[in-house]
Order: sequence, then C-alpha cells, then structure tokens
Amino acid sequence: MVNATKRGIRRKQTVIVAAALGSAVVAAFFLNSCSTTPAEVVVPLEIPGAHYVGNQACMDCHAEIVREFPASPHGLIHSASLALPGGTGCESCHGPGSKHIESGGNAKFIINPGNDPASCFQCHLDVQAEFNLPYHHPVIEGHMNCVQCHDPHGGDIFKPTGGLAMAWQNESCEQCHREQTRPFVFEHEAMREGCTVCHNPHGSINRKMLAESDPNLCLRCHAQVQGGSGIIYIGNVDHSGFLQVGTCWTAGCHTAIHGSNVDSLLRY
Ligand code: HEC
Ligand code: HEC
Ligand code: HEC
Ligand code: HEC
Ligand code: HEC
Ligand code: HEC
Ligand code: HEC
Repeated sequence: MVNATKRGIRRKQTVIVAAALGSAVVAAFFLNSCSTTPAEVVVPLEIPGAHYVGNQACMDCHAEIVREFPASPHGLIHSASLALPGGTGCESCHGPGSKHIESGGNAKFIINPGNDPASCFQCHLDVQAEFNLPYHHPVIEGHMNCVQCHDPHGGDIFKPTGGLAMAWQNESCEQCHREQTRPFVFEHEAMREGCTVCHNPHGSINRKMLAESDPNLCLRCHAQVQGGSGIIYIGNVDHSGFLQVGTCWTAGCHTAIHGSNVDSLLRY
C-alpha cells in the first residue's frame, strides 16, 4: 500500500496548491472570463448584488445541513489562503448568500453545484483535468454530477451505504453498474479493495477508464515470477506465450475480470 499512501500525499498537496491558487484563479476568471477559459469552465461564484454572510445565517432554514457539515472534509478545512469571506463553509460552494436569504430562500439567488460542478472546480483543478481526459464519466457534458458519487455535507464524502461483501466505495458505482457489482460464484478478490484499484473514477487516458492499459494493472497484485530459460509464471501458470497475445483481459483470457459464475480462473 506504499503506492496508495504516496498517492494520498501527492493528492493532498495538489488540493492544497489548487486551493491556494483558488482565489487567484477566481480573480483571473473575473478578469477574462470568456476569452481564455474553455467553454466548460462556467462562471465563478458570483451572484450579482449578493455578499457573504457566513454559515450561521443558513441555520434558520437549513439547520440539519449546518449541524452535520462540521464533520465533513470541507467543514474541517482551515487554511490561511482560504480565509477570505466565502473561502470556506457553505458559501465556498454555494456563493454569497445574502440575496437568497433576503428573498426568503429563492433558488435563483444561490448556486447549486449539484447542477453545475463549476464551484467544485475552483479548488479541484486536478479533478477538472481528470474529467477532461479522453475516457471519463460525462460530468463536464452535464449528464452526471459530483453528488452521484460524493455527499457534499455529510461525514463521509464517498457515499457509502454500509457495505458488507464489497468495498465501501463500490456502492456508489452500483447504482449504475449492476453488471460488475452483482455477486458472482467465483468472485475476484480484487473487487474487495474497490473499483478504484483498476479504474480512475473521474477519467483516464486509457479506455474503460483503466488505471493502466497493460498487464501492469494486474501485476501490482499478482507476482510475475521468472522461471528458467525466459519462462514467466503468474499464479503458478506458465504465461510466457499468453503475454505476447495481448493484455490479461483480452478475449480468450481473463475476460470475466469482475467475477465469473462458471470459471474460477475468470476466463468467461
Ligand atoms: C429564510 C430561510 C433561508 C435561509 C436563511 C437560507 N435558505 Fe437556502 N433555501 C431556502 C428555501 C425556502 C429553499 C427552497 C427554494 C426552492 O426550492 O425554490 C432554499 C434552497 C436552498 C438551496 C437549493 C437551491 C436549489 O437549486 O434548489 C441551496 C443550495 C441553499 N438554499 C443554500 C443556502 C445557504 C448556503 C444558506 C446560507 C448562506 C441558505 N440557503 C440560507 C430558505 C433559506
Ligand atoms: C463542498 C461544497 C459544498 C459545501 C461546502 C456546502 N454544500 Fe450544500 N450542496 C452542495 C451540493 C453539491 C449540493 C447538491 C446536492 C444534491 O443535489 O444532492 C448541495 C445542496 C444543498 C442544499 C439543497 C439540497 C438539500 O440537500 O437540501 C442546501 C439547502 C444546501 N446545500 C445548504 C448548505 C449549507 C447550509 C452548507 C453549510 C453548512 C452547505 N450547503 C455547504 C455542495 C456544498
Ligand atoms: C474552497 C475550496 C473547495 C471547494 C469549493 C470544494 N472543495 Fe473539495 N476539498 C477542498 C480541500 C482543501 C480538500 C482537502 C481536505 C483534506 O484533504 O482534508 C477537499 C477535499 C475533497 C474531497 C476528498 C475528501 C477526502 O476525504 O479525501 C472530495 C471528494 C471533494 N473535496 C469534493 C468536492 C466537491 C464535489 C465539491 C463541489 C461540490 C468541492 N469538493 C468543492 C477544497 C474545496
Ligand atoms: C463516478 C463517481 C464519481 C464522480 C461522478 C465524481 N467522483 Fe470524485 N471520486 C470518486 C471516487 C471513487 C474517489 C476516490 C478515488 C480513490 O480513492 O482513488 C473520488 C475522489 C475524489 C477526490 C479526492 C481525491 C482526488 O482525486 O483528488 C476529489 C477532490 C473528488 N473526487 C472531487 C470530485 C468532484 C469535484 C467531482 C465532480 C466534478 C467528482 N469528484 C465526481 C468518484 C467520483
Ligand atoms: C449515476 C450513474 C453512474 C455512477 C454512479 C457511476 N457510473 Fe460509471 N458510467 C456511467 C455512465 C453514464 C458512463 C458512460 C457510458 C458511456 O459513455 O457509454 C459510465 C462509464 C463507466 C466506465 C467505462 C465504461 C466504458 O464502456 O467505457 C467505467 C469503467 C465506469 N463507469 C466505472 C464506474 C465506477 C468505478 C464507478 C464508481 C466509482 C461508477 N462508474 C459510477 C454512469 C455511472
Ligand atoms: C481487477 C481490476 C478491476 C476491478 C477491481 C474492477 N474492474 Fe471494471 N474493468 C476492468 C477491466 C480490465 C475492464 C476492461 C474489460 C474490457 O476491455 O473488455 C473493465 C471494464 C469495466 C466496465 C466496462 C464494461 C464493458 O462491458 O465495457 C465497467 C462499467 C466497469 N469495468 C466497472 C467496474 C466497477 C463498477 C467496478 C467495481 C465494482 C470495477 N469495474 C472493478 C478491471 C477491473
Ligand atoms: C488489488 C489486487 C488485485 C488486482 C489489481 C488484481 N487481482 Fe486478481 N486476484 C487478487 C486476489 C487477492 C485474488 C485471490 C487470491 C489468488 O488467487 O491469488 C485474485 C485472483 C485472481 C484470479 C483467480 C486465480 C485463481 O487461481 O483462482 C485471476 C485469474 C485473476 N485474479 C486475474 C487478475 C487479472 C487478469 C487482473 C488484472 C486485470 C487482476 N487479477 C488484478 C487480487 C488482485
């Protein structure tokens, strides 16, 4: 799991850098919104005539969300670079709230990032880049949104629903991908670690959003052992000839990679 840890650390740095850049980027958007930004980067968090009022002002009408929010990752952010009004808290995603409140809660005067991820992208530039990779979930196209996989207010942003057999993360995928998440007679234990051991959930340069395009996807867990005279064993089976044919999941090999009801070697 050294890899995962490294990835975690790298990610955190990216987020912090992105967050630090956030205000500068927002400022840049204000200055040249149409000319230099791609069309899918929509407007910054600006609600004409409104100013920031702070989380407590939302309490009167959205008490439950205000109460659960401090436990969420975004409720825990403390950063000098985000100390500007609206840099953290409800309005960092929803925009300045004064007009929404004055109007008694008119939805026209508040941003809902469940409809438009632009406010998330202010800080998560790296995620925006992932959704622009050649193979991606259609979020930028407006067919999906962040909240189908993330709970923005609650304690667990990854939306588990109390998983038993499968890794907790897989459950948000299950809503839409029944074929891969159903129980199999011969399960592939890799699934217990979550779909994300093999797929980048936002997007990837590889087809099917795979984390790797070649056998390295599998060799992270399945040791490749060199026998005498160039023979390569994987799982005690001589794979020397197979590996020249294609990837591990090419037709004729482990095509039932998510699990099989008929073959313990996940071939069909
Ligand atoms: C005076 C009561 C009141 C206060 C205070 C209030 N809201 Fe609302 N809010 C409402 C009502 C009522 C709705 C439902 C509007 C609708 O469905 O048309 C709403 C809806 C929303 C929505 C959903 C909009 C949509 O697209 O459907 C968001 C987001 C929201 N509020 C955020 C906030 C935030 C953030 C604050 C604090 C800055 C806040 N509200 C303070 C009354 C309030
Ligand atoms: C990380 C960004 C983020 C922050 C911070 C945030 N929200 Fe939200 N909020 C969202 C998203 C995304 C949705 C859309 C949820 C959906 O469609 O299921 C939403 C929806 C809402 C709604 C309307 C739907 C509902 O669940 O009733 C209200 C009201 C709301 N937020 C209030 C708040 C309040 C109050 C706070 C601060 C205590 C807050 N939000 C902080 C991202 C955020
Ligand atoms: C004001 C900047 C800001 C905005 C806006 C923002 N985020 Fe974040 N987000 C952060 C920071 C900073 C972290 C890192 C927190 C940490 O690592 O503890 C984070 C962490 C996350 C995480 C990872 C949490 C974890 O436990 O690893 C997810 C998922 C996430 N944000 C999704 C969203 C979504 C979805 C939206 C829009 C609805 C959004 N963010 C809007 C700043 C922001
Ligand atoms: C198809 C489901 C899905 C959608 C849609 C999705 N995410 Fe994620 N996201 C995930 C999963 C799963 C992880 C955990 C990845 C991991 O652990 O390798 C994650 C991780 C994250 C993280 C923390 C790690 C990182 O990659 O930086 C952030 C931040 C984040 N998502 C933001 C967003 C934002 C913003 C949106 C909408 C624009 C979004 N996500 C849409 C599934 C999704
Ligand atoms: C709200 C529905 C929804 C959720 C939730 C969802 N997906 Fe998807 N997924 C889609 C859609 C829509 C596509 C695009 C299909 C297309 O472009 O033909 C897709 C495509 C994919 C593909 C590529 C399939 C292909 O044929 O190229 C993979 C892999 C995938 N999703 C994995 C995941 C994983 C892993 C999760 C959970 C982290 C997840 N999905 C959550 C709707 C969803
Ligand atoms: C051990 C690695 C691995 C894991 C774990 C994994 N996948 Fe896959 N997945 C693959 C490979 C490899 C392919 C490509 C198969 C192909 O090209 O025919 C794929 C393809 C897909 C596709 C496209 C299917 C199609 O018919 O085109 C979807 C959707 C998908 N995976 C969803 C998921 C979901 C959801 C999870 C978690 C429940 C998951 N995967 C876990 C390796 C994995
Ligand atoms: C996250 C780790 C992980 C990844 C990645 C992974 N596997 Fe597995 N796989 C396992 C575990 C654990 C088992 C069960 C123990 C064993 O048989 O080695 C298993 C079992 C198998 C089996 C059944 C072996 C047997 O003798 O019953 C096959 C075949 C297999 N994996 C193929 C693949 C292929 C092909 C890939 C790449 C697409 C892959 N695996 C990726 C962890 C992983």
